[in-house]
Amino acid sequence: CVSQYWQMLKVYVTRRIPQEGMKLLQKAGICNLSVWDSDEPVPRAELLKGVAGAHGLLCLLSDKIDAEVLDAAGPNLKVISTLSVGFDHLAIDEIKKRGIRVGYTPDVLTDATAELTVALLLTTCRRLPEGVEEVKNGGWSTWKPLWLCSYGLSGSTVGVIGLGRIGLAIARRLKPFGVKRLLYTGRQPKPQAQEVDGEYVPLDTLVRESDFVVVSCSLTPDTQGLCDKTFFSKMKKTSVFINTSRGAVVNQEDLFGALSSGQIAAAGLDVTTPEPLPTDHPLLSLKNCVVLPHIGSATYSTRGVMSELTANNLLAGLTGSEMPSELKL
Ligand code: NDP
Ligand code: DGY
Repeated sequence: CVSQYWQMLKVYVTRRIPQEGMKLLQKAGICNLSVWDSDEPVPRAELLKGVAGAHGLLCLLSDKIDAEVLDAAGPNLKVISTLSVGFDHLAIDEIKKRGIRVGYTPDVLTDATAELTVALLLTTCRRLPEGVEEVKNGGWSTWKPLWLCSYGLSGSTVGVIGLGRIGLAIARRLKPFGVKRLLYTGRQPKPQAQEVDGEYVPLDTLVRESDFVVVSCSLTPDTQGLCDKTFFSKMKKTSVFINTSRGAVVNQEDLFGALSSGQIAAAGLDVTTPEPLPTDHPLLSLKNCVVLPHIGSATYSTRGVMSELTANNLLAGLTGSEMPSELKL
């Protein structure tokens, strides 16, 4: 009788997800799964149609879950489980108002994202894409003393904006490269910063004194557009800017201005606005800008574990039990 009740729970899944999570949902045997069976995002009209009457919604960071979607889902909706740690795509106030629980994927992607951030930083500061291109196009004529010279980490000052789970993991990985000072900023000092000898400083100090500025904060109304013309104008001309948080933290027009005028040395971005970045976007015409397609957490194992956690959060939300990772609203 109980299982018949559970059979009636409708779950809408907005994309094909790694099989680890899908198997858990199927095995649980408590829900009717309706999946947008594609690797491409569900069109908005399909999402609004598909979510109607759902008890559970499993979504991705590319799905904007706002009042319109929540209204389309209706009063059955008990849980939203997102396959991401970032939750800026969810209208939290509206969700809270309706008493809906939210699951997300902190911690399990921290190592993969920190690793990618370090890879992007080294790729950008040591000008690797330019070097690879020169080898291929015949630009490599001989060993030249000043050709493709760049800025290294040894003896440098690194500034981390947002020393959260990922920010700290980035700092831990960067320190052994011989970083001299590790500055960080955020809403309050973090005791765990001691581990990396982190100095809590105002944003202005961080921007002015860092050779590498690494953005790893969450996207909030306070951080939206934080990295703008004024921000870049305070950075050293030799400094390198890295963003693996969310594209909207950066004013991209201002970043283009800073990179093309030589105000800063280089930038590496794993996140942009919009995503995908149009192939004719001005940033892509610059040699000193490295853009990746939002692959911070993209290792097979991490995505598998994220998928499992997302499924387990959803199932817990459906059955009214404790979620492995519930977002406190
Ligand atoms: P955490 O919540 O642990 O860290 C977020 C950090 O942002 C906190 O340290 C917080 O500081 C800081 N922050 C919030 N507001 C501000 C502000 N106004 N100024 C400066 N710092 C601020 O989250 P995670 O580390 O797990 O993830 C961080 C973000 O990384 C995610 O929200 C997501 O957007 C992005 N991400 C990107 C990935 C990719 O593929 N590129 C992969 C995974 C995540 P405080 O504690 O002081 O409030
Ligand atoms: C997240 O989880 O927020 C990332 O952007 C993708 O893993």
